[in-house]
Amino acid sequence: MKQLSSNELREAYQEFFEGKGHIRIPSAPLVPQDDPSVLFTTAGMHPLVPYLKGQVHPAGQRLTNVQKCLRTTDIEQVGDATHATVFEMLGNWSLGDYFKQEAIEWSWEFLTSVDWLGMEPNKLAVSVFAGDDVAPRDEDSAKFWRAVSIVEQHIAYLNKDENWWPAGGGAIGPQGPDTEMFFWTGREAVPDHFDTTDKRWVEIWNDVFMEFNRAESGNFTTLAQQNVDTGMGLERVIMVGQGAESIYEIDTFAPLMKLISSQTKVSDVRHQRILADHIKAATFVMADEHPVKPTNSEQGYVVRRLLRRALRSSRVLEVRDPTTLLLAGADYVAQTYGSVYPSLVDNLEPAKQAMRDEVDKFDQVLKRGLKKFEAVLAAQNGGDVLAGEIAFKLYDTYGFPIELTQELAAEHKLSVDLAGFARALKSHQQKSRAASIGKFAGGLADHSDQAVRYHTATHLLHQALRDVLGEQVVQQGSNITAERLRFDYSYSEKMTTEQVKKVEDLVNAKIAADLPVTKREMTVTEAKQEGALGLFEKKYGERVNVYTIGDYSIEICGGPHVESTGELGTFRITKEQSVSAGIRRLKASLQ
Ligand code: ALA
Repeated sequence: MKQLSSNELREAYQEFFEGKGHIRIPSAPLVPQDDPSVLFTTAGMHPLVPYLKGQVHPAGQRLTNVQKCLRTTDIEQVGDATHATVFEMLGNWSLGDYFKQEAIEWSWEFLTSVDWLGMEPNKLAVSVFAGDDVAPRDEDSAKFWRAVSIVEQHIAYLNKDENWWPAGGGAIGPQGPDTEMFFWTGREAVPDHFDTTDKRWVEIWNDVFMEFNRAESGNFTTLAQQNVDTGMGLERVIMVGQGAESIYEIDTFAPLMKLISSQTKVSDVRHQRILADHIKAATFVMADEHPVKPTNSEQGYVVRRLLRRALRSSRVLEVRDPTTLLLAGADYVAQTYGSVYPSLVDNLEPAKQAMRDEVDKFDQVLKRGLKKFEAVLAAQNGGDVLAGEIAFKLYDTYGFPIELTQELAAEHKLSVDLAGFARALKSHQQKSRAASIGKFAGGLADHSDQAVRYHTATHLLHQALRDVLGEQVVQQGSNITAERLRFDYSYSEKMTTEQVKKVEDLVNAKIAADLPVTKREMTVTEAKQEGALGLFEKKYGERVNVYTIGDYSIEICGGPHVESTGELGTFRITKEQSVSAGIRRLKASLQ
């Protein structure tokens, strides 16, 4: 196959699909706004969920993009050949337009045509859905694969754990069976039979056929339209194209690995890769369009974990000056990806400052954690095993990576009950997974009438805060359930009681005025000219939906909203608190 650079592949992919009538759309931020369903964009589908459900996308029914994604579910595998926390996904989308046949034929053409990737056809194998009580065995996909010349022994039929997206089984919202493409990376001849457990077959692309919706009750219904959602792993395709042993050797990663190995006394490839990955991921999140600082909750906690794990790997590698390395790594990431994701350059400096602060903080935490560890040791009534529960507490509360606890324990001739730690971790993960599955849906998670009312109230609140506190108030996030709205905004002080009352009165006055809510489609430039609030990371020419509320509020937004504010009821702020330096959070209800 052809050897492409990352830049060339991004371009080729989108150009190919443009040739098939698709429109390029920009990557959405890593940190979703107005989307309480997920902490991060983990796949290209997230920002598109409302459109998979039938809302009309301003750019049409065929879209293509490169989406930056972050997944922490595989964080323990980071450092092997193919896993990374932040990665790029190339996608093509059919929103109620073409379906399995075109998706498969075009995947095949892009992969094998000498005009495009030029992969050797016999090095490709595919998996398709084996069928269950919701959807039958995907004979159609298998038939289309055979038609493009995949041999029967290179087709595997797998169950829902493998060939259904979103993965994990419990997700609600749009979903369906998928077909995955694998490339043979072994030095040996291609096996006749596709053994899905053989790691030399590397998954490179996934075509999902989204025609189902799963309600919170667990019931499946058929969506109003048949969609295609595809995701090609950019780093993996570059890796197999360049014949690299791992994604850490491809064009975008190699210089960062080199920088790291030049600063480390100990050479341990796994820790070097972890360090490279975590520096990259932390920089992406901290310099996202919606920058995240390290904190103890939600996205901020993920950033904190990434940085602490990076520092832990720095310790193992005996990095001379971890702060300097982290900052140089962040500079490299911004330089390498800035032309694709401009926020990396725009928001680099504050991100680096926050990294510096976090390293200092971790030094202090480490001291506190070590004290705790000493106390644990003192209470350790004999025995030579440190309980898993205690290791988990050190991990969860003091931010100690498990390896650090093991290292410290070993200094005191103790081993750590890893099975007990894994049990405690698993039960914690199950709890948080249940919480995040509960959140999964995309767009406005909950389209109940009350959630839609809260969504409109959020726009009124945003404007009212700007009127009362000033234009420095900018929305940083929001989370809506049928019971309340939560709104994060930039502002450095606690609101006074008077200010809270003023904001409430203003919102209630706009509700009493029964202002009409209207939706218009326009370009980002036009929206900006009209003074719309909202996200401007989109390309200037891209068309967006703009919602106006009377002559009071104007915002770029995916909706949905009520028709007029009279439907909202009485607005009340129920809680005001700080989230992190410079960010406040409000909770409010409608009665
Ligand atoms: N959404 C699909 C995936 O992430 C394409 O694999």
